[in-house]
Amino acid sequence: RDENKSVDTRLGEICELLRNNIDYYDWVGFYFKNGDKEELKLGPYAGTPTDHTIIPFGKGICGQVAVSNQNFVVPDVAAQDNYIACSITVKAEIVVPLFVNGENVGQIDIDSNTPDPFTEEDERFLEFINQNVAEIL
Ligand code: SME
Repeated sequence: RDENKSVDTRLGEICELLRNNIDYYDWVGFYFKNGDKEELKLGPYAGTPTDHTIIPFGKGICGQVAVSNQNFVVPDVAAQDNYIACSITVKAEIVVPLFVNGENVGQIDIDSNTPDPFTEEDERFLEFINQNVAEIL
């Protein structure tokens, strides 16, 4: 591999690859814990730019996963109270935490314009992606 390629370049390529190859992945991005702050910061992503570049812990689906350390599958975003809308076209979302040495350092976030598209296969697949990402951080 090209050792000079930055981590952000590689993560951006992973986002593009996922978005371009899985038809119901419409927005794919990484959020990371922002230093010592109790908030997430948007990292590399593929899809429409979002205003939500900083998300406090506990807020929205992403902020809840920062606290719970658990996958969060949302079949219908309209049914969620604690949800931050990025685009009116989004119908469903999945967020899978990213662990480095057992510590929750961030997450991969996928938005879908298709209702209820995510299965346990997506969860296992995104866990596998994150395990590999953890190796290059
Ligand atoms: N919907 C997310 C916010 C991030 S956007 O999906 C890119 C949430 O509720 O946390």
